Amino acid sequence: MNLGENNAYVIAGVLFLVSVVFFKLVWGFVAPNSRKRLPPVVKTFPLIGGLIRFLNGPVVMVREEYAKLGSVFTLNLLHRRITFFVGPDVSSHFFKAPESDLSQQEVYQFNVPTFGPGVVFDVDYSVRQEQFRFFTEALRVNKLRSYVDQMVLEAEDYFSKWGDSGTVDLKYELEHLIILTASRCLLGREVRDKLFDDVSALFHDLDNGMRPISVIFPYLPIPAHRQRDRARFRISEIFATIIKSRKCSGITEDDMLQCFIDSKYKNGRPTTEVEITGLLIAALFAGQHTSSITSTWTGAYLLKYNQYLSAALDEQKRLMKKYGDKVDHDILSEMDVLYRCIKEALRLHPPLIMLLRQSHSEFTVKTKEGIEYVIPKGHIVATSPAFANRLPSIYKDPDTYDPDRFSPGREEDKVAGAFSYISFGGGRHGCLGEPFAYLQIKAIWSHLLRNFDFELISPFPEIDWNAMVVGVKGEVMVRYKRRKLAVEE
Ligand code: HEM
Repeated sequence: MNLGENNAYVIAGVLFLVSVVFFKLVWGFVAPNSRKRLPPVVKTFPLIGGLIRFLNGPVVMVREEYAKLGSVFTLNLLHRRITFFVGPDVSSHFFKAPESDLSQQEVYQFNVPTFGPGVVFDVDYSVRQEQFRFFTEALRVNKLRSYVDQMVLEAEDYFSKWGDSGTVDLKYELEHLIILTASRCLLGREVRDKLFDDVSALFHDLDNGMRPISVIFPYLPIPAHRQRDRARFRISEIFATIIKSRKCSGITEDDMLQCFIDSKYKNGRPTTEVEITGLLIAALFAGQHTSSITSTWTGAYLLKYNQYLSAALDEQKRLMKKYGDKVDHDILSEMDVLYRCIKEALRLHPPLIMLLRQSHSEFTVKTKEGIEYVIPKGHIVATSPAFANRLPSIYKDPDTYDPDRFSPGREEDKVAGAFSYISFGGGRHGCLGEPFAYLQIKAIWSHLLRNFDFELISPFPEIDWNAMVVGVKGEVMVRYKRRKLAVEE
C-alpha cells in the first residue's frame, strides 16, 4: 500500500463519516415529520368541488365524510383548507387552544362592519378579552336577577294583548317578544319606552346586511351593505345621545347599557360611546336570533310530545303551589324539567351550526382510535354543533327528542365527558350569555304554560338551513285558548 492509496482510504473514510453524519442530521429533521400524518382530504372535483359540497350543506358534508374519513378531515375550499374536528376527543383542542394557536379574529372578521370599529373582532385579543370581561360583569347573577324581573314583566304585558282564544304564528310572536325583552334588558329603558320602533327597524337593516356573501366580502358595495352602514351610523348617533344624557343626569339604570357605560379597562380608561354601542350591537346579535329560535323549537316539541308537555305543566303546578304566581330568578332556576326541554331542543337544533378558528401554528390531534394528525399552520379549523350534538356514540337515539337524557342518572352529555354538548360552544370562548338565554326562554314558556292551552295546527316545522343563524323554516301556527293552570290543593 503506498501513500497515495492511504490518502484515498482516509478520504473515503472521512467522506463515509461525513455522509453518515449528514444523513443522520437530515433524518433528524425529516424523521419526526415523516411519521406525522396530515388529515385525509375530502375527495371533490378540482377547484370548485369543495365549494359546491360546502354550499350544498356543510352539515350533510360533515355527516358523509365523518362516515368515510373519521373524526378529522380536510376540505379544500377554493384556496383555503378547512379541517373539521368531529366529536369531543378531537374538538377539545379546538375549544381549549390559546388564541396564539387558534384564533377567532380572522374567521369572524365579517362581523366588523356590523358591530362597528373598536370592538370585539376589530381589536387585539388583549382588548377583546377585556371587553368580554365587561360582558361577564354585565351578566353576573346580581344583574340577571333584575333582568329577570324585566323579562317577566315584558312577557306578562305582551301576552295580555292576546285574546281569549285565537291562532298565531308562534315563531313571529316569540321573535317579537324577545326583541322587546332584549331592548329592555340590554339596550335600556330609553330605547324600549321611546325609540323601540326606530331602533328595531335599524336593527332589522343591520341584520339584513349580514348575508352569506358578507362572510367572504363584508364590504362589497351592495344595497344591503350600504343600508347596514347607514343603520349602524344612525344607531351610533342614538346611543351617543342616550349615553350623554345618562352621564349628564347622573341617573343610572339596571341594564347592560349601564354596565358598559360604567366599565373600565385595566389601565383605567372608560369605554367610549362608539365601543358601548358596538358591544350592545354584539350582544343583540349574539342573543337575539339564537334565543328566539330556541324558544320556538322548545314550543314546537312541547306541543308535539304530550308526555313532556305534561311533565312541564306538572312542574309549573308544583312551583305555583310553593310560590303562588310569583316568578323570579330563583324560581326560574328551580324549573329543571323546563330546562331539560329547552336544552334538548337546543341539542337537536343549535342555531350556530359551525364554529371556526384560524390556525397560527402547527399542532397535532389524536383521535379516539389513536391516530395522530398534524394540522398545519394556516388551516381554518371547524367544528359543528349541529352534527356533533347527534353523535350516536354519545346520545342514545340521537335524532329523538328526549329531554330525560339529561336527567340525574342518565346525563348523557356529562357521561361522555367535556365538549359532548356544544350548542353554546365551550372552553375558552364558551357562550357568556347562556344563563341569560335560559332565563329568558324559561320566563316566556313558564308564562305560556301557566296561562294558555295550545295546539300545533301547522305541520311540525323544518329546519331553515339557509339562514345565517339556522332556525325554523316558515310559520309555526298554533291555536291558543286562555286558561289558568289549576293547582290542586
Ligand atoms: C340560545 C341562545 C344562545 C346560543 C345557542 C349561543 C351560542 C353561542 C356559541 C356557540 C358561542 C361560541 C362561539 C364560538 O366558539 O365560536 C357563543 C359565544 C358567545 N355568546 Fe352566545 N349564544 C346564545 C345566547 C347568547 C346571549 C343571550 C348572549 C348575550 C346577551 C350571548 C353572548 C355571547 C358572547 C359574548 C360570546 C363570545 C364568548 C367568547 O368568545 O369568549 N350569547 N354563543
